Amino acid sequence: MTQEKLRIGLFGYGCVGQGLHDVLNSSKGFKADIVKICVKDRTKMRRIPMTNFTFDKNDILNDSSINLVVELIDDADEAFNIVTTAMRSGKNVVTANKMMVAKHFKELVEMQSKYKVSLLYEASAGASIPIIRNLEEYYDNELLYSLRGILNGTTNYILTKMHNEGLPYAEALKEAQEKGFAESDPTLDVEGWDAKYKLCIITGHAYGLFLEPEQVFHYGINTISKFDIQYAKEKGFKIKLVPFVGKTNENTITSFVLPRFISSDKYLYNVDNEYNGVITEAAFADKQFFSGKGAGGHATGSAVLSDISANSYGYRYEYKKFQQGTVSKYTRDFKLEVYLRYNDEKDKELFGFEEVSEYFSGRFYKYVIGVVNLERLYSLREQLRNLDVFIVNTGRKINPPTLQMGVEHKERDQNLG
Ligand code: HSE
Repeated sequence: MTQEKLRIGLFGYGCVGQGLHDVLNSSKGFKADIVKICVKDRTKMRRIPMTNFTFDKNDILNDSSINLVVELIDDADEAFNIVTTAMRSGKNVVTANKMMVAKHFKELVEMQSKYKVSLLYEASAGASIPIIRNLEEYYDNELLYSLRGILNGTTNYILTKMHNEGLPYAEALKEAQEKGFAESDPTLDVEGWDAKYKLCIITGHAYGLFLEPEQVFHYGINTISKFDIQYAKEKGFKIKLVPFVGKTNENTITSFVLPRFISSDKYLYNVDNEYNGVITEAAFADKQFFSGKGAGGHATGSAVLSDISANSYGYRYEYKKFQQGTVSKYTRDFKLEVYLRYNDEKDKELFGFEEVSEYFSGRFYKYVIGVVNLERLYSLREQLRNLDVFIVNTGRKINPPTLQMGVEHKERDQNLG
């Protein structure tokens, strides 16, 4: 395929924009010109001459010599505006904006075929881990049972620092912000939104369902206390924020984001700091584990570069699982065993525990371990924000094994971590 010379219009010059710039400058084999960089803040000191910058998005969007738009700003609404304008005018786009992709997933997929352009977003989920293209290309005909992992670097950094060094939550969050891992609004990280957006994007490629983020239950780590860390340590666990998507039967999937206990014999146990990790379980490939840096300018920039390079040889997502249409339903009727740390008995009653295997009531805190339905958690999602509780998925297998589809298999644990 003949390669058009890449002339890039870049939106945003924050942590990821600068990371991409460094990565591009040090990449010997690949040549692409960044023609213009559009930024918002006129007063900010920049590390390269101001002649590289513009404050007017139309300087890029209306420049017909620019054939690739790279969008790396953190305002999802403005990003959507920029990306769709670029696509409508026939420009290919690379973005790292998970909130934007997740919120407009279906529309963005449709626009790609309507305007015959490509939108690539490998950096939006798992940063340096090439999970989206692997799902598209490697798992295109695989029977994928489940995918789970760590998809947010900030929360993993906080949990690591709390567990390993006893750092208070607020201090660990501050460090994650200083290192450039956190979102401009860190509640997106700590409340689990960011991990959920990434999970929704992954779900589109793993199963061909473009879920509305609103459909998916998410819970973060912002109410974690030292008692939860202490409990985990006593049992030999670490707590990680783990998004999960998996099949409940042949044509149905479920998904959620919840903190989870991870024992030391599991892959995710040693995925620390800003690293992310993804575990896939499939009929033929069996279990696979991907790990790499999940946040930070250079790690994310490397994934953006990989998309820029893929774009230069005409790569586009085919949404193969969507084309196949095997999975058509989404359910939240799914049982989970959770640890609930709480103070007020009334709060515990809200959860409707079905089986209780452990109960503790001490001077400083109480906890219960039992089975709840995901639908129930979902119905409590607004209330949960104001409750003095912390929920952790224990990872114990509750539901019947996923369909085996005639393939010989050892007992499968949807919750192996
Ligand atoms: N705030 C995100 C994280 C950045 O911590 O994972 C990478 O998407």
